[in-house]
Amino acid sequence: TIKKLINKLYKSNELEWEELLYILNHIGEYGKEYLIQKAHETRMKVYGDRVFMRGLIEFTNYCKKGCIYCGIGAFNKNVDRYRLGLEEILLCCDEGYKLGYRTFVLQGGEDNFYSDDKIEEIIEEIKNRYKDTAITLSIGEKSYESYEKYFNAGVDRYLLRHETASKELFEKIHTNSNYENRIQCLWNLKKIGYQVGAGFMVGIPTQTKEDLIKDIFFLKELDPEMVGIGPFIPHKDTVFHNEEGGTLEDTIIMLALLRLFLPYVLLPATTALGTIHPFGREQGIKAGANVVMPNLSPIGVREKYSLYNGKICTGDEAAECRGCIQNRIEKAGFSVDMSRGDNIKWRR
Ligand code: SAM
Ligand code: FES
Repeated sequence: TIKKLINKLYKSNELEWEELLYILNHIGEYGKEYLIQKAHETRMKVYGDRVFMRGLIEFTNYCKKGCIYCGIGAFNKNVDRYRLGLEEILLCCDEGYKLGYRTFVLQGGEDNFYSDDKIEEIIEEIKNRYKDTAITLSIGEKSYESYEKYFNAGVDRYLLRHETASKELFEKIHTNSNYENRIQCLWNLKKIGYQVGAGFMVGIPTQTKEDLIKDIFFLKELDPEMVGIGPFIPHKDTVFHNEEGGTLEDTIIMLALLRLFLPYVLLPATTALGTIHPFGREQGIKAGANVVMPNLSPIGVREKYSLYNGKICTGDEAAECRGCIQNRIEKAGFSVDMSRGDNIKWRR
């Protein structure tokens, strides 16, 4: 039955709620292998063996939000806070550009220091220097008007994980953010014309299989260009410090399912996945993931952008990561693609 259901999903990119629940409840070793095989076939048909590289710049760890699982939440007094100025950000881009990156991902906490004008200035500077480069922004929940301004300044893509599609669970783990607003932000981003990235964490304390099914159904409805899925990992200064994190196996299953539900999606093998297992990213890639996001932030700040314990690559030069990741991708049987790597279905 599992095989039949996976075949149905492979052919139609759809399943009923009960069918998906059946898979999650009964998958077993054989089912998992078959699911990964079908996810791999799908990615090969759509994107081939290519893995897109994005240079990640974590430009501020100030955050006004209080997501209770996140190490840089406003409540955490132990964080050594930093902000990168325009010149520092441009230095990261310079280095990244020389290493071949053609997408820069600018990510940060929700930091009011960066007004819309400042963000627009940063974007315009980067776009002026590197005309063949895509910019992805990831700075949380903003108004429709702000999103519109960033888009007009040249931002191509926006990452805003929905975190969990269970309203109840969402509200348990966010103190000053509400579910409806986060979801509305994603629809707004789509309407404006961004390539949109939603996504969720796997293994959040008390998260159920039904919650994960909600994530998949929500994503199927939103139909985003990118989906970020990573394991929840505890952070020592949060209320979840003693909790178990999400597992490699559960995360891999969700990645493979997403590849089958949304065949065209850009799906990163996340740093969090590489943190919980030495070959986590490789396993993710073998299960349908086709993006990696090596770090371009200055080494001095990497450790400070600490969302969870044990983050990898905090001491590695951008060039080392670039080489290391390429090696890993090739050893796993895939090839590196340094182009902008837009979603192939997307038209601006
Ligand atoms: N502030 C922006 C936002 O809210 O979208 C972007 C930065 S936020 C730190 C980036 C992502 O980190 C979140 O979407 C969340 O899924 C992830 N994250 C935060 N804490 C985490 C944890 N303890 N384990 C795994 N992922 C975590
Ligand atoms: Fe950063 Fe391997 S990816 S050192």
